Amino acid sequence: MNVHDFQKMKDDGRKISMITCYDYSSARAVAESNIDCILVGDSLAMTMHGYPNTLSATTAMMALHTAAVAKGAPAKFIIADLPFLSYRKGLKDAMDAVHELMSAGAHAVKLEGVRGHAEIVRHIVDSGVPVMGHLGLTPQSLHGLGGMKVQARTNAAVKVLTAEARELEDAGCFALVLECVPTQGARRVTDLLKIPTIGIGAGTHVSGQVLVYQDMLGLNPGFKPKFLRVYANTFEVIQTALNAYDSDVKSGAFPSASESYRDLESTDKRVEHPAQNGRGSGITVTSEIYH
Ligand code: KIV
Repeated sequence: MNVHDFQKMKDDGRKISMITCYDYSSARAVAESNIDCILVGDSLAMTMHGYPNTLSATTAMMALHTAAVAKGAPAKFIIADLPFLSYRKGLKDAMDAVHELMSAGAHAVKLEGVRGHAEIVRHIVDSGVPVMGHLGLTPQSLHGLGGMKVQARTNAAVKVLTAEARELEDAGCFALVLECVPTQGARRVTDLLKIPTIGIGAGTHVSGQVLVYQDMLGLNPGFKPKFLRVYANTFEVIQTALNAYDSDVKSGAFPSASESYRDLESTDKRVEHPAQNGRGSGITVTSEIYH
């Protein structure tokens, strides 16, 4: 996947799959999947750092997580979010932030909105850095929008949305995220633009979809927006594993003889731990490392 493949996929009618990712071990799992591209979203302020919204993400945080993801998924196309206000303080600050994210391993940056920073988008693009736009619900404007609400629900609002989408395309964006926009509005934008749209809560008539890794893996059990499909109940899987480990530790079933070191002179190959009595979790250690 490179930046031109986004356009090719839209032109060929092939859907683009994007997933957020913020750390090395998750990136390794994404690296071995068929997912087309990774977004190191500023949602990491919430998923990785426990803040209530994305406003606490900083460029330093974004760069640190981008570098970890780039190491875990070196062959994937990585888009990193420019965080809150980093592109609203003038060209120099915006370019410093872009520089930091691209040096950390991003292949493109994403930013929210267009009003007042179309020239900055143009400058980033002209500097050789692909830019993904983001319209509809733009979480960095949470307080200005009066909350995390579905956007563009009236004809007038769809008109503004399509005008802004066109402005981002004209400024050189290679793709556009549409967040929490009714299906027909998202379709209007997708049909109007040449570049692909990637939806989250924007229905099916878009060029691709993005979901937050933790949300689609069920790691955020209380979070149930209409648009979310949970593909695995990972929170429960982890809880079950943690409790099995806790129980094995407390019963003495972990570690077993095969999970313990022998001294070099011992001839006894398998000494069953007295507390084990076949009550272990049954997890087999296959790794030869540290022997
Ligand atoms: O930060 C993020 O995760 C995002 C997606 C929801 C599109 O911007």
